[in-house]
Amino acid sequence: MPSVGEIMESMEYGPATEDASAVREWLARQGSLGHFIDGKFTKPAKTFATRDPATGQDLAQVSQGSEEDIVRAVRAARRAAPGWAATSGHDRARFLYAIARTVQKRERFLAVLETLDNGKPIRESRDIDIPLVVRHFYHHAGWAEIATTEFPGHAPLGVCGQIIPWNFPLLMLAWKVAPALAAGNTVVLKPAEYTPLTALAFAEICAEVGLPPGVLNIVTGDGATGAALVQAPVDKIAFTGSTEVGRGIARALAGTGRRLTLELGGKSPFVVMADADLDAAVEGVVDSIWFNQGQVCCAGSRILVVEAIAERFETLLRRRMEKLRVGPPLDKSTDIGAIVDPVQKQRILEILAEAQAAGAELVGGQEGNGCIIAPGYLRRIAPANPGMRKEIFGPIATLSTFRTPDEAIELANNTAYGLAASVWSESATVATDLAARIRAGVVWINCANLFDAAAPFGGVRDSGYGREGGREGMLDYLAAPQSRPAGKVAAPRPPNPVEVGPGEIDRTVKLYIGGAQKRPDGGASYAAQGELIPLGGRKDIRNAVEAAQGAIGKWQALGGHGRAQVLYFMAENLALRRTEFARFASDAEVETAIRRCFFYAGFADKYDGQTVSAKGGLLTLVQPEPQGVMGIIAPENAPFAGLMSLLLPAIAMGNATIVVPSQDRPMAALTLAQVLACSDVPGGVVNIVTGPRNALAEALAAHDGVNAIWQPEPNPAVERAAAETLIPVWSPAVSDWGSEDAQGRRFLRAASRAKTIWLPYGA
Ligand code: NAI
Repeated sequence: MPSVGEIMESMEYGPATEDASAVREWLARQGSLGHFIDGKFTKPAKTFATRDPATGQDLAQVSQGSEEDIVRAVRAARRAAPGWAATSGHDRARFLYAIARTVQKRERFLAVLETLDNGKPIRESRDIDIPLVVRHFYHHAGWAEIATTEFPGHAPLGVCGQIIPWNFPLLMLAWKVAPALAAGNTVVLKPAEYTPLTALAFAEICAEVGLPPGVLNIVTGDGATGAALVQAPVDKIAFTGSTEVGRGIARALAGTGRRLTLELGGKSPFVVMADADLDAAVEGVVDSIWFNQGQVCCAGSRILVVEAIAERFETLLRRRMEKLRVGPPLDKSTDIGAIVDPVQKQRILEILAEAQAAGAELVGGQEGNGCIIAPGYLRRIAPANPGMRKEIFGPIATLSTFRTPDEAIELANNTAYGLAASVWSESATVATDLAARIRAGVVWINCANLFDAAAPFGGVRDSGYGREGGREGMLDYLAAPQSRPAGKVAAPRPPNPVEVGPGEIDRTVKLYIGGAQKRPDGGASYAAQGELIPLGGRKDIRNAVEAAQGAIGKWQALGGHGRAQVLYFMAENLALRRTEFARFASDAEVETAIRRCFFYAGFADKYDGQTVSAKGGLLTLVQPEPQGVMGIIAPENAPFAGLMSLLLPAIAMGNATIVVPSQDRPMAALTLAQVLACSDVPGGVVNIVTGPRNALAEALAAHDGVNAIWQPEPNPAVERAAAETLIPVWSPAVSDWGSEDAQGRRFLRAASRAKTIWLPYGA
């Protein structure tokens, strides 16, 4: 006789299928679905089928949005924008609240519709996706209510174009629509072609709650429809999807002055230290890479385990993996459902084949019928293996080992992406050290894939820029006060080199790189302000970036107070050298420079992070982290005051910088080198490269080691170069560099980016 325990272990699950009849009736009633424009559904013209990936059956016909549809939707949003922006925060809150209530009432319906269209297990759509959608609208109803006091002087951007992917269709809609509407913007949203249905069901809800026509518009279609939205006259594009498409959008928006946030791919590390709770860590893997069939941008797809425990960890992992149930998505006991589309399944299989051809061993990961791939992982995988570098976007992790924490960090950061990370150690000291050193926008300590409307989410490097959620997310849908367009400043023509004859005394001033005076690599000079100015080039920029990278650790380690001391010292030394500066800059400019030193010394230890109210039992920290290496282009019309207005917030936040001074009046900046040297600014924190301003700015934008660029006015060539490297470029729009407009929180915010760290507590 088997024991009860044995029976429980060996018992098979019976099917427990969620009732889909209400959704099927709704689908039958719809037949073909149009777009939702100006408060009404349009008559469908050209349509395509959206399918249930688990069965391959057509669910409905949806409309392929044309350029004309996009234009109509954007016009409707534009017409609605002034009225919506003028409504009180309280009125907007009531709409968002009504949406939240209605989604909540329809949770079961929306969960089933999501599962049918996407293939994700009903357990996930019911327990994770839709409740988070509801939470998002409630949270943002709150922001709408308090926006005027919490964001004084801020204004909505206008019309926002939003393009979302298929992996969390309604949740991604909520992440984009809720903050946009709360901030007073109107929206044109394009859902992904594989999963448009819940967005259309959401449009019905908006009509039902009486959202004014044009405030939310939904145009369905494929990439061509998305591209048309990018080309349309909107004020912001918010995109979530592949890095490749994101880069194309950045390219298309270069020089248009439109705002852009990008939430792109990832290849996030999952680091397990020797003292980790291994059972919990294994559950963490399940929640990371076997959640939503691994189609998660922030999936912990690279498991890195310390060698000493690797064997035991793998045994536990394999045992758990084999217990996961692959099955029909509507079955309530299914863990792994269907991949969204045969095209995506094929893409996953191709990467797995490549990885195996390059020597990796696949455990699990069998191909099933239809859109099924069983959970698995790649072992014995080299860092250069394509399976280790590419975003697989399927239920397949990689498993590799390391020996020391430093090696773990090196492996974790050995990727072009920087979206998320999960670290496992029972030592708070070790875990927080890893969390600080891994380059990622979100770090989960002893947990994985937790989300909340109050917790900003977003990445760095090839994972994009901008944040969604919380205060940070709201700010990405608002225009800060004082950001009024600057007057047009003519770009200088490249300077002509000046020959220095043999035997002539070399009296050129030098570049300032790594704390030392350096001759430019090309050895040439140009004439400006009666002096011979070094003509820097690409090689000098490369050297300066290297010097900045080398300086950053020490500068950040000083902390806010330490940096404040250095900035006060700079103010003193500037004051002592007034007469020297007076040769090259007006008294007013020097006075502004001194004031900026005081202002940012004051702020250096006060631009703080916060803990946010996300979920109970978790400390959720939102830390402003320095961008890293920043390229700073000085304005031509205020060479010294402008330069200092940009440089000081950057270094106050802990960044290392490469400054490109005014081309025609660079002498004040070059004189600054002496002040830096005697003010305890560590070598490499400020590097000064003079020469052809625009070419140097473009060289910075093309350099992978640069993390942010500030330029006084938009320069399309720089923005185009930065679209390839995905470096965020900011033009602060200042009309008077001597005024209060040229200092403040918005500068500190742009000099940093939010890192969200989740830490569960409980003895
Ligand atoms: P995708 O980036 O092509 O699609 C995302 C959205 O962008 C969809 O709404 C699509 O219609 C739209 N789109 C496509 N081309 C566009 C264009 N030129 N201009 C404007 N919008 C455009 O992603 P896809 O092809 O569905 O998936 C490919 C890979 O991308 C996946 O295997 C995965 O690696 C990655 N991906 C990452 C996501 C994330 O959340 N980070 C989400 C979806 C895909």
